Amino acid sequence: MIDDKALDALFRNARTANGFTGTPVTDAQLRQLVDLMKMGPTSSNSQPARFVFLRSAQAKERLRPALSTGNLEKTLNAPVCAIIAFDTLFHEHLPRMFPHNQAAKSWFDGDEKKAARETAAFRNGTLQGGYFIFAARAIGLDCGPMSGFDNAKVDAEFFPDGRFRSNFLCNLGVGDPSKVFARSPRFEFDEICQVL
Ligand SMILES: Cc1cc2nc3c(=O)[nH]c(=O)nc-3n(C[C@H](O)[C@H](O)[C@H](O)COP(=O)(O)O)c2cc1C
Repeated sequence: MIDDKALDALFRNARTANGFTGTPVTDAQLRQLVDLMKMGPTSSNSQPARFVFLRSAQAKERLRPALSTGNLEKTLNAPVCAIIAFDTLFHEHLPRMFPHNQAAKSWFDGDEKKAARETAAFRNGTLQGGYFIFAARAIGLDCGPMSGFDNAKVDAEFFPDGRFRSNFLCNLGVGDPSKVFARSPRFEFDEICQVL
């Protein structure tokens, strides 16, 4: 088991960032983050998540029209904003990514499998978004995940061919502790769990 210091950094003391210090996020950190995130499990090792890191002012301007008012300033001021998206045609990679079962691609091929494909892409892409947040925390970064934006506008601007679709956004950097909200309550074990 990992020690208390690591548990605090990943879970107990980590907070959702609403503002960041001026410390930049380097390319090396983005690579380290993705190298950890990618080891998280996905069904049939499908790895549908895709990431676009917006760092320049010019890149973030392209996002501006899609952002909700409450998410605008903190995103424009964040060192990096990641668009966490998913590949709707992830199954095309399965012969490479799930090599011990060459039939896996056929589970998602064709129009009649579209619903299964979309469920798997969203489920596994969302899981990878969660791994992304914890990988960022593990390397000393803070995250500000956001669903307050217009997915259709992001998709039209960044994924015009329709293959990738945005899931959520995530600001990244070293969090400014003065900007976090008061910690909101969490459910107790007995409220959300059954042991049968
Ligand atoms: C997928 C997702 C979407 C979120 N969307 C927004 C958002 O649009 N704007 C915002 O200010 N916070 C957003 N949040 C932040 C949550 O409100 C925050 O993570 C939660 O209250 C827990 O805060 P804590 O980590 O500081 O305890 C989002 C969080 C997640 C995981």
